Amino acid sequence: MDKLVISGGRPGRGEITISGSKNAALPIMAASLLTEEGLRLRNVPDLADIRSMKSLLAQHGVVIEPVVSDGSEDAGAFDFTVARITSTTAPYDIVRKMRASVLVLGPLLAREGQASVSLPGGCAIGTRPIDLHLTGFERLGAKIELRDGYVYAAAPNGLTGSEIVFPSISVGATENLMMAASLAAGETQLINAAREPEVVDLAHCLKAMGAEIEGAGTDRIRIRGKARLHGGEHRIIPDRIEAGTYAMAAAITDGELELLDARASDLLFVIETLESCGVSVTPTNRGLHVKRANGRLCATDIETQEFPGFPTDLQAQFMALMTTAEGVSTIEERIFENRFMHVPELARMGAQIITEGACATVTGCEKLRGAPVMATDLRASVSLVLAGLVADGQTELNRVYHLDRGYERLEEKLGACGAEIERVPA
Ligand code: EPZ
Repeated sequence: MDKLVISGGRPGRGEITISGSKNAALPIMAASLLTEEGLRLRNVPDLADIRSMKSLLAQHGVVIEPVVSDGSEDAGAFDFTVARITSTTAPYDIVRKMRASVLVLGPLLAREGQASVSLPGGCAIGTRPIDLHLTGFERLGAKIELRDGYVYAAAPNGLTGSEIVFPSISVGATENLMMAASLAAGETQLINAAREPEVVDLAHCLKAMGAEIEGAGTDRIRIRGKARLHGGEHRIIPDRIEAGTYAMAAAITDGELELLDARASDLLFVIETLESCGVSVTPTNRGLHVKRANGRLCATDIETQEFPGFPTDLQAQFMALMTTAEGVSTIEERIFENRFMHVPELARMGAQIITEGACATVTGCEKLRGAPVMATDLRASVSLVLAGLVADGQTELNRVYHLDRGYERLEEKLGACGAEIERVPA
């Protein structure tokens, strides 16, 4: 149970290399279950959630080996091979730690004709049901049964392609069904599909394994199923949420950072929003250069939306940014029903925030003050880190394990850019 101790007031200056994307790597690792041949992945981040997915896959029979070249391991490169699936059950003990475990359901069902996955249960940011995943599998001909806290899915004669119209947009359901449909008989159309860059990256990886997919990145994806997929190699895209977080670290500390490997194309709406706050974000040939355009930031309203809108995974960080901006901003959270857990913690640091339902109104103040605060979920915890970087005095962030789920070597990356941040045992 470590905590982070942050002494604020130092502008972040230097360069940060953006790691591989957690939310692209998780479904892509699950895709390794679709073939008995090997899948080589590069740029896999070293995160708690990635380790959870590795242990889940291992108990399904996946052999995971680091790639070694010239006698040394390639950082972030692994071979995933599952010649034979040894278990089609995703147990509660692993699924309860990480909801994304549900992404093995599609590949297992498609390859083995059956799967049982523990229901993920509740989450700090919302109820997060998986009904869209399950109705989608039923459209592909699977029989779905909920029993004893588990989903039992069966398609002994294989899955059959179909048209699936999502009543609302879901990243996970789009990914799960795209994987299942790649081994179904015939054609599947996913309509009102998610358009996130992570969905596109998964489609690229599946195509490298021989899948036939068109339209990833649009709201209509067409998949022609194959009898089998072959092995392949894929490099995971950089993490746009990590990049957006560090862009806000540069802005909130009035620093100057170059974010290596960050891609402007994944962050267009975020960049536009930051520019309207008074932040300059310039693509370079190595990534993105970020600094304030002129003086104090100005308040700007946002509402979270599915891609290409403002990502909900950057909402908490943006709120931290607005706590010291000039003026009043309104932040509307439209994706998850309970994603303001950071508000009372920011208020402990002197932030002025009023929430009403899905809306938060932030009145910018001159200065935040350091305080002991509690992490509640992944993105809420990093918003407290951003606040701590600009606050007067010391901030102690407890329950850092939330942060470790999605940020690789955060204190090292920020420390190298001048931040005074230290991990200490609680
Ligand atoms: C993915 O979660 C991300 N996780 C989340 O990032 C991200 O916040 C979310 O997409 C939205 O962008 C991963 O990729 C591993 P959804 P996912 O299905 O797939 C409702 C982070 O911080 N819904 O698009 O679970 C759901 O409750 C995490 O890295 C249903 O009602 O999100 C939510 O309100 C947090 N029924 C909305 O749709 C369903 O069957 C969007 O959820 C599925 C979803």
